[in-house]
Amino acid sequence: MSTTHSIAVIGGDGIGPEVTAEALKALRAAGAQHGISFETTDYPFGGAHWKRTGETLPSSALDELRRHDAILLGAVGDPTTPPGVLEQGILLRMRFALDLYINLRPIKLLPGVRSPLRDRGPEDIDIVIVRENTQDVYIGAGGTVHEGTRNAVALQQVVETHFGIERCVRYAFETAQRRGGPLHLCDKANVLTHAHGLWRRVFAEVATEYPDVKTGEVLVDAMCMYLVSQPERFRTVVTTNMFGDIIADLGAGIAGGMGFAASANLNPGGVSMFEPVHGSAPDIAGQGKANPIAAILSAALLLDTIGHPEAGEAIRTAVNTALGEGWIDLSPGALTTSQIGDIIVGSLA
Ligand code: NAI
Ligand code: MG
Repeated sequence: MSTTHSIAVIGGDGIGPEVTAEALKALRAAGAQHGISFETTDYPFGGAHWKRTGETLPSSALDELRRHDAILLGAVGDPTTPPGVLEQGILLRMRFALDLYINLRPIKLLPGVRSPLRDRGPEDIDIVIVRENTQDVYIGAGGTVHEGTRNAVALQQVVETHFGIERCVRYAFETAQRRGGPLHLCDKANVLTHAHGLWRRVFAEVATEYPDVKTGEVLVDAMCMYLVSQPERFRTVVTTNMFGDIIADLGAGIAGGMGFAASANLNPGGVSMFEPVHGSAPDIAGQGKANPIAAILSAALLLDTIGHPEAGEAIRTAVNTALGEGWIDLSPGALTTSQIGDIIVGSLA
């Protein structure tokens, strides 16, 4: 029996459409093996579209996105767009309007990929970071007075709610329980006593419902050191929006870089969005040089989320096999974006 899913595709700018094409190729191939097919709808949003039309992400499009089973995004960003326009107008708008309250960032060193950490292999680096995605300094609460003078005062507030923390922490416990190993809360509760004090309290409360999950607390500054010195300590980490933004990129760095870093922006009760962590890479756009693996692994997260973890796993296995067997030469210029996609699809079969 075949199931059909509708996917909204926002290729975006630069290498976004190039890597998204490969992600769709892998999605369709894995789907075909598991009796799943896809109907895709392309949306033009991004820097180029904004320049042409002045439009970022209109409300009508949000309503349409909500009617899909998932959203696949490449990257948005164009060096000539003023900072903030696309981040706020598209990425943050989607997070808030679709209530994508979990940012899931797997940090996994794949076979055949060199970590900059000496003597570390795939068995040492296998972490999932669960980043809260709708609170904290990102909501834009605050303001500036006396702007443009030497008396200027700027405030941007950390906003944390019991509701927002609890649903994120609960998701993290579920994830940790499924994955096995400990769940760490990463915060700065020794200084942000109000905001992160609340995180500690909610974390401890929810922990009582998951007696089989071992827990730990780690301050964010120490976390940065441990991620480099002892990454094997961590398995699942839950953290605030801002710290998640930072430590997840550090994690991407130790796991081989932006070419491999996948992510999901999840609303477990609604439509979710999947994207590689990297941006539009204007320096290599249009040259077939982009590594599509991050986008392909994001498509695997999409499959997990829409109820086909076995198809998601098939993609991850294909990527691991292709890399581990040395079929993918990662040295610059050796393979094009679509050749890498083809090898992974070949490895699926
Ligand atoms: P970037 O991630 O686009 O590029 C950083 C460096 O990594 C560049 O040298 C690039 O060539 C390389 N790189 C990135 N992805 C790669 C891939 N798949 N394969 C091979 N090399 C890759 O970050 P950057 O340069 O800071 O930002 C460029 C534009 O992208 C900006 O407009 C920025 O706002 C936007 N951006 C968008 C994001 C999104 O859509 N979620 C996330 C990050 C940046
Ligand atoms: Mg970031």
